[in-house]
Amino acid sequence: MLNDDFDTGLNPETFAPETLAVHAAIRPDPHTNAIAPNIVMSVNHSFLPNEGAFSAQGMEDISDSPFLYAGWTNPTVRLLEQRLAILEQAEDGLATASGMAAITAVFMSLLKAGDHLVISDVCYAAVYEFATQVLPQYGIEVTAVDTSCIKSVQNALRPSTKLVHIETPCNPLLRLTNIQEVSLLLKNSGILLSADSTFSTPVITRPLALGADLVIHSLTKFINGHGDVLGGCVLGSKALISKLRSVAGIYFGASLSAQSAWLIMRGMETIYPRMKTLCESAQTIAEWLENHPKVLRVLYPGLASHQQFSLAKQQMTFFGGIIAFQVEDIELIEQRFAHESRMFYYAYSIGHQRSLAVVLKTDDLDKSTYRFSPEQKAKFSREAGKGVVRLSVGLESPTDLIRDLSHLLR
Ligand SMILES: Cc1ncc(COP(=O)(O)O)c(C=O)c1O
Repeated sequence: MLNDDFDTGLNPETFAPETLAVHAAIRPDPHTNAIAPNIVMSVNHSFLPNEGAFSAQGMEDISDSPFLYAGWTNPTVRLLEQRLAILEQAEDGLATASGMAAITAVFMSLLKAGDHLVISDVCYAAVYEFATQVLPQYGIEVTAVDTSCIKSVQNALRPSTKLVHIETPCNPLLRLTNIQEVSLLLKNSGILLSADSTFSTPVITRPLALGADLVIHSLTKFINGHGDVLGGCVLGSKALISKLRSVAGIYFGASLSAQSAWLIMRGMETIYPRMKTLCESAQTIAEWLENHPKVLRVLYPGLASHQQFSLAKQQMTFFGGIIAFQVEDIELIEQRFAHESRMFYYAYSIGHQRSLAVVLKTDDLDKSTYRFSPEQKAKFSREAGKGVVRLSVGLESPTDLIRDLSHLLR
């Protein structure tokens, strides 16, 4: 039977989150006393005739069910789900094959034709494209607004609005959304709030405690933290997670593999020291960049120059590992990062132990993703200029990273 009871002898009320990240839900194997979790690779589990389910709907709530088929979950994946739920202090969790699988499961489970979605006008490109280009094909209406402005969110709401989806800090502009303010706006309206907290992780911000209904992570990023696995998760109430499980796992087939779940569990045990180290390095680097004569602007929530610095101090315990900055000659810096950097791998993605960098040009984002109106482009350009260099700071010494940046910005 699934053990859905999070009681591991570790009471979240009395143990620090750093301790829970290492110990929660882990018990020695009853047969071998092994203390690292086992990987269960089996896709199927035998069951008695009256225990099986005939349709995905019958299997939405797995809490009291035996394991049957890895599409719903698997013992190793379930352990990850429980441990993630403990980290975010959520009732339940669903692990998926990628962050995108988690987000599309949320949209496709909670929205139907005629419903309306409000989404951040700057967010991870694939989420923006899916919301604005694919959802309308299914009759779902979408409004993209600057969710850092509560008035814009309020003005976008309609009687048919069912979901507000925010990303804080957002990719790649590092704008914040005030989670508590948006959740208060939506209170008693029946509109759900989902927060993509990939840039923050549970170490930095707890969206559920601030009133969000669902928190989403790309586990590919900081939570796994080693750049060697794809994964995603959604955490929230048991009722909402049950609703998502059959869509994500059975209908979309986006279940996480047991091997990936095991790697993510290993990575997330060290999330506290990793985040602390890389956030401190990112702060040092952001301050250094801000004083560099070749840098036009730095976007980082930990700088007093960030337009939401006071919200950052209120909503974030650290300011994250991602920095965006502008320089005059974006073509030159792109070439230098790609060909001359000794510390930053020129690559997409974020949240690895190794530092990564990529140049995101405003014109390219416009053509591929945002399809801006002239006013929208002007607004985006006020923050991003012709484009930004996005750094994902890793675990190297900040001194070495700064020496490399100094060479690239010569
Ligand atoms: C904020 C954010 N959310 C979601 C995703 C998607 O995650 P995945 O690549 O695991 O599908 C990304 C990917 O970069 C991201 O930056």
